Amino acid sequence: MASKSKEIIGYTDRISAEPGERIPFMVSCESPSYRAEIVRLIHGDPHPDGPGRKEELVDTSVSGNYPGRGQEIHTGSYVVIPSPSPQLRDLSSFTLQAWIYPTLPDRGWQGLLTKWDTSQEIGYGLFIGSEGDIVACLGHGSDSVRKFSTGVELEPHRWYFVAAAYDAEAGLVRLCQQAVVPWASDTSLVVVEEPAGKIAIGKSSAPFLMGASWDGSRTISHYDGKIDGPLVYPRALSPEDMELLQRGRREEISEPPVATWSFSLEISSAKVVDTSPNGLHGEAVNLPARAVTGHNWRGDETHWIHAPKEYGAIHFHHDDLGDAEWETDFELTIPEDLRSGVYAARVTSDADEDRIPFFVRPKRGTATADLVFLAPTLTYLAYANEASLAVAEKRNAAPLFIPKVHREIDDYMADNDMRSLYGRHIDGTGVYYASWRRPLTVRPDYYNRFRGYAHGLSADLHLLDWLEEKGIAYDVVTDHDLHEEGAELLSPYRVVITGGHPEYWTGPMLDALEQYQTGSGRVMYVGGNGFFCIISVDPERSHIAEQRRVETNGFIWQAPAGEYHHSTTGELGGMWRSRGRSSHKLVGVSCTAVGSDQAKPYLRQPGSFDPRVAFIFEGIGDEEIVGDFGLQQGGAGGDEVDRLDGAQGSPPHALLLATASGFSDVYLYFPEDVYYDQTYPSEPGQTSNAHPHVRADMVFYELPNGGAVFSTGSITWCGALSHNHYQNNVSRITENVLRRFLDPALFRRLESP
Ligand SMILES: [Fe+2]
Repeated sequence: MASKSKEIIGYTDRISAEPGERIPFMVSCESPSYRAEIVRLIHGDPHPDGPGRKEELVDTSVSGNYPGRGQEIHTGSYVVIPSPSPQLRDLSSFTLQAWIYPTLPDRGWQGLLTKWDTSQEIGYGLFIGSEGDIVACLGHGSDSVRKFSTGVELEPHRWYFVAAAYDAEAGLVRLCQQAVVPWASDTSLVVVEEPAGKIAIGKSSAPFLMGASWDGSRTISHYDGKIDGPLVYPRALSPEDMELLQRGRREEISEPPVATWSFSLEISSAKVVDTSPNGLHGEAVNLPARAVTGHNWRGDETHWIHAPKEYGAIHFHHDDLGDAEWETDFELTIPEDLRSGVYAARVTSDADEDRIPFFVRPKRGTATADLVFLAPTLTYLAYANEASLAVAEKRNAAPLFIPKVHREIDDYMADNDMRSLYGRHIDGTGVYYASWRRPLTVRPDYYNRFRGYAHGLSADLHLLDWLEEKGIAYDVVTDHDLHEEGAELLSPYRVVITGGHPEYWTGPMLDALEQYQTGSGRVMYVGGNGFFCIISVDPERSHIAEQRRVETNGFIWQAPAGEYHHSTTGELGGMWRSRGRSSHKLVGVSCTAVGSDQAKPYLRQPGSFDPRVAFIFEGIGDEEIVGDFGLQQGGAGGDEVDRLDGAQGSPPHALLLATASGFSDVYLYFPEDVYYDQTYPSEPGQTSNAHPHVRADMVFYELPNGGAVFSTGSITWCGALSHNHYQNNVSRITENVLRRFLDPALFRRLESP
């Protein structure tokens, strides 16, 4: 598709860096020049009731003027066999064959197996044509091009055996399009045999592509759907041989293929393996989905590792994007004395500006404060570019999914078909992968469009701004650092504080936080819906994260049958509770409901009067309403909210301190909780009013070895911190907890009653 531009926008592919390391910045700017500077981010939410933008200019070698140039986004995944590959280039007769599962066959020309240069009409290729049928193209220049088609439109979401054979000597083309599961209509089997004459196939310099075609300089005509078991023969197979292929008896065909690619090998990677002796291996570009069911998947095995031969397909999408591959405009070497924090490259042209955030951590093995803020970069990445949640907008959307605000950057993401893990591809299938190597909506002032207020990074700056105001020193590390380094990263710190919404966790991250809790570590979870979704970081390509939505009852989207396991790690996707690691055990609460209209304040519960937590409520009245104000939904308890639940693993000695409840009917309890409902006394329906699950619980408990946990169970908690010039009860409670948590005095084990 044609790329759509924005006046100025950029990205970096380095999520976090320590002093001495280099960070590149890639910028697209329509004006002839722009200015770049590095700023430390303190607060970004433009809400009129808040303190507004706060940032500090940092003097670095980056400061200066740079020439502007447009850089484009080109989405669309494909497999490329690098040229030159003479075995594929020098064919006179051939057979191209694959199983395909088209998802948008009526979208126009889509390349299936092509060595075809559209700009010169040279080469050969198997396509879906403008009529949605199978088309073979042969030619050596525009005067000598022949196109043959089956003339029968493919049905979407069905497996087909498709093939094109050209016999140069006989001057005959044979096309085959047959549904794998035939149905009672004459469209499921089409065989076309046409005299073609003797066509000299031009030696195209185009690479051999699967899922796309070539326009002379880049890929075009990207395909939506799956391809399984593609192969190329150097001759026209007879109808009998074709029949053998169809029955999976290829080894009975006398002559070997030129190439036969098995997508069931190297599933975790971008590698594409040719199992023929020619070794014409390739690469999957722009993150097409792997570990997807093939034409022969029977459902006996639902894990690709157990039956790889039934997972020999790749699902291509014309809106996939793995790496925007922009050129670098400038680089920053992190100064040795730069404090740990959240920073941005601020790029300003005459007409517009952008801030490209990055995270500066302390040098490995060192800490510069007792408190560390764990920036939830995997959650930022999961939500990034949610702007293009187009499918939800087309439906009769629930109030939760009606856009409330609009930012120019949203248009840029939508116009360029960039997706988030909350989105679906245009063919309706869920987005499995997110890449940091592309422009993202992770911005210090970004408002989530379905919420209409700060969310993600812009919301977490509420907390960092508050720490600055209180003069409390902190380091910043990221999810990506924790995933890579484990518990050692956290061990120097007395207190770990999360962001407002640390939802996406990898297994190694959970391991690290659990290990941290076995010492005297203290965890402040001042957020909602944390530690909830399973996400993987690709072991070879750390800028890529993967998530398969499982057991969502259709909420957002649901991975189809047989595709519950991540391709990058092989692990089961979905929610951590489905793998026995609900956050109830980690922080006392877990997500229970979500809504986007109005937050609620907390009311103290009997547990808050326990002497064990007297320090938390110092200065707070017995009947005081906590947090009936804030920059997100106007309250401290809201958005995604969590509940204490002993049945799901909350520690029995956890104290329920306060609860926010009475939400509107916009709040839905989590659909995956429905089956739990049978254990509860009433079932008043899924929407809010008085359903016992729709609430935010504030919780405290001690850990076995002197540590402790404090959880607020609400995304909007930190949005209330700055109210009334930081003088308010949300600020007071947070400070009471943090000051005590920073005190080295160990929390005592509870005496048994
Ligand atoms: Fe979330």
